Amino acid sequence: MKANGTVVLGGQWGDEGKGKVVDLLSPQNGIIVRCQGGNNAGHTVVVKKEKHIFHLIPSGILNPEVRCVIGNGVVIDPTVLKEEIQRLQQYGINPAEEGKHKLHVSDRAHIIFPYHKILDGFQEQNRGNKKIDTTGRGIGPAYAGKANRTNMRMNICQNDDDTITRIVMDHLHQQSQILEQLHAPAMALDDAAKWIEALQFLRPFVADTVSLLHKEMKLGTTMLFEGAQGAMLDIDLGTYPCVTSSNPTIGGISTGSGMPPAYFGEIFLVVKGYTTRVGEGPFPTELKDATGEKIQQTGKEFGATTGRKRRCGWFDAVITSYTAQTNGATKLAITKLDVLDGFEIIQICTGYHCGNETLETTPADIEVLVQCEPIYEEMPGWQSDISGITCYSDLPQAAKNYLARISELTGVPIGIVSVGPDREQTIFCEA
Ligand code: GDP
Ligand code: IMO
Ligand code: MG
Repeated sequence: MKANGTVVLGGQWGDEGKGKVVDLLSPQNGIIVRCQGGNNAGHTVVVKKEKHIFHLIPSGILNPEVRCVIGNGVVIDPTVLKEEIQRLQQYGINPAEEGKHKLHVSDRAHIIFPYHKILDGFQEQNRGNKKIDTTGRGIGPAYAGKANRTNMRMNICQNDDDTITRIVMDHLHQQSQILEQLHAPAMALDDAAKWIEALQFLRPFVADTVSLLHKEMKLGTTMLFEGAQGAMLDIDLGTYPCVTSSNPTIGGISTGSGMPPAYFGEIFLVVKGYTTRVGEGPFPTELKDATGEKIQQTGKEFGATTGRKRRCGWFDAVITSYTAQTNGATKLAITKLDVLDGFEIIQICTGYHCGNETLETTPADIEVLVQCEPIYEEMPGWQSDISGITCYSDLPQAAKNYLARISELTGVPIGIVSVGPDREQTIFCEA
């Protein structure tokens, strides 16, 4: 098998700039595949100053001649997907058209219903001061329903309209009783109609994407797999329980698409030149001072899905070494380097002090991670605007030194450096 698959994964706590990197790599690929997560994701692509935010549709869709797949591992809110498709159609891109821009949705992907969203809010409320600060999109309850084997999958769209209505109403009726038993808020009846209409609308998009991808693999079509969230939000490998409910790491790409691990050749780990996190959970290098505020303001660090302010801090090489290892990263894509313009000193965390111990890896227990004090290495910053640079050799020496140190600490070569949100503000590095 030729390892024709390229993967783009988040190496921190999400929002690393995966959308931009996927858009950049899309022209070299015939198919772009989302594999896990749902509309908790918000992936931004900026083309000629015009901003597009994708929640479910792969971020490569703006490129002509690519087809897009929402794989079996994604949890789909059909009302959100319908709106996203209609927004693109208004923009002049038709994902229903055969050939270019065509969107295929896996018949095995699980459906997010209103009761999943209700349970998400209800569970958060019940967590009190231990809340996760989820996106409220029903993601956790949808993956729980998958594990409990109580969900409905997108294959129900392949029935006629009346049958879809009957199946959905039966299911919602059953789930309403469960909400009642839990003393959770009730489901609104209007919601049922909205969901049924959306599922009927999505019928032409639903397909056996596992067979489709395997057929294309045999034909030699190149494919790009778009991770959502980030490795530190991984339910197995992240800062549990302050994580999402899927596997945003390499294994999730395989199980979420049905493609074998040996198919993945290049694995891009996207990391910001600093660190951000949105929502609750430990974050050792967080800066709760004017420097953190400056990064937040300069980097316009507000969530693309919920608009929440992102917490900001220095680059943490302990977590990125861990996420590079667990994903088998072959290249780094370092984004938002321009945000560090003008800093006299830039710090990189290379280890943690934890009580009398020095740690070089991230501990499993978040109560321990919360106690960790970062050990910093200081590097001189650069005092110029790098946002217009498109050639590595034109970067200031201090920026090159900083990038080289990140690469050395993580053990991964740099493939892409991003110096602004726009497609053009990119440096491709030689191997
Ligand atoms: P994703 O979820 O990983 O796709 O990332 P988001 O789209 O949630 O957040 C990344 C934000 O940073 C978006 O607003 C992007 O437009 C922006 N962005 C991406 N790369 C760069 C960069 O190199 N410099 C700057 N200043 N902004 C960037
Ligand atoms: P992209 O793909 C950043 C965070 C939430 C919360 C936790 C659990 O844009 O990088 P969930 O709703 O998934 O149950 O919330 O995970 N989270 C993200 N943070 N980027 C994301 O996606 C995220 N998706 C979920 O803030 O802390
Ligand atoms: Mg995002």
